[in-house]
Amino acid sequence: MKIGIIGGSGLDRFGDMKTVRRQSVRTPYGDPSCPLTIGEIDGIELVFLARHGDGHAIAPHEINYRANIWALDHLDVDSVIAIATVGGIGEHLGPGTLVLPDQIIDYTSGRAATFFEGPGQPVTHIDFTWPYDESVRRLLAAAAAELGEPLIGQGTYGCAQGPRLETAAEIRRMARDGCDLVGMTGMPEAALARELGLPYAMLAVVVNHAAGMGDSSQGISLEAITATLEATMLRVRNILSVLVRQATPRSS
Ligand code: HPA
Repeated sequence: MKIGIIGGSGLDRFGDMKTVRRQSVRTPYGDPSCPLTIGEIDGIELVFLARHGDGHAIAPHEINYRANIWALDHLDVDSVIAIATVGGIGEHLGPGTLVLPDQIIDYTSGRAATFFEGPGQPVTHIDFTWPYDESVRRLLAAAAAELGEPLIGQGTYGCAQGPRLETAAEIRRMARDGCDLVGMTGMPEAALARELGLPYAMLAVVVNHAAGMGDSSQGISLEAITATLEATMLRVRNILSVLVRQATPRSS
């Protein structure tokens, strides 16, 4: 089992992983966010990609999602774990909460959202009823359980276009739509993985109450987000390390 990890904000490096090499991958869709890192945890190979690029330079709407997913597939990963920071829409989803979403509502526009376009490409409609892969979700849940990390096992992820944060009214509308979380990078990433048949799930890290909610009623504090990110990503790294070890049976 070779796991691919897409790191989001706050996770552009991965502590426990020993870097074996970095590999630039050219794709038919252009360049991925940065060279991919082939790494090892306890001798188990994995592939890591920083979604926003080296130094967090690429905004959510500028990410080349097709190149990123194509490159991971090209390096033969068996499944993809996406880490993404989100705002919590539900009152109970405060900073520091970890969630395994099971549904998506896509509010993005103008992003290259499919591999199936252009000359010679067949018209293809993937099934996306359940956008996240259940077996990958189970790997994440098992790793969190092993560490005693509380993880909310379902939720609807609303993907906003960004890069600005939302208005309070937009968040109220998303709540009425049934969204529990709001982020900017979950789509089209999840759909592209499904198009290539790559099992994919997201670990969402709540770093703030969404606009107008809880302590964000008057605005979102970017300083508070940074502080939460630093505290929470350590927990995420631990979950990923356990997951990689659990997912790959030792041969000796
Ligand atoms: N909105 C959109 N994306 C986000 C947020 C938010 O409040 N927090 C982290 N990513």
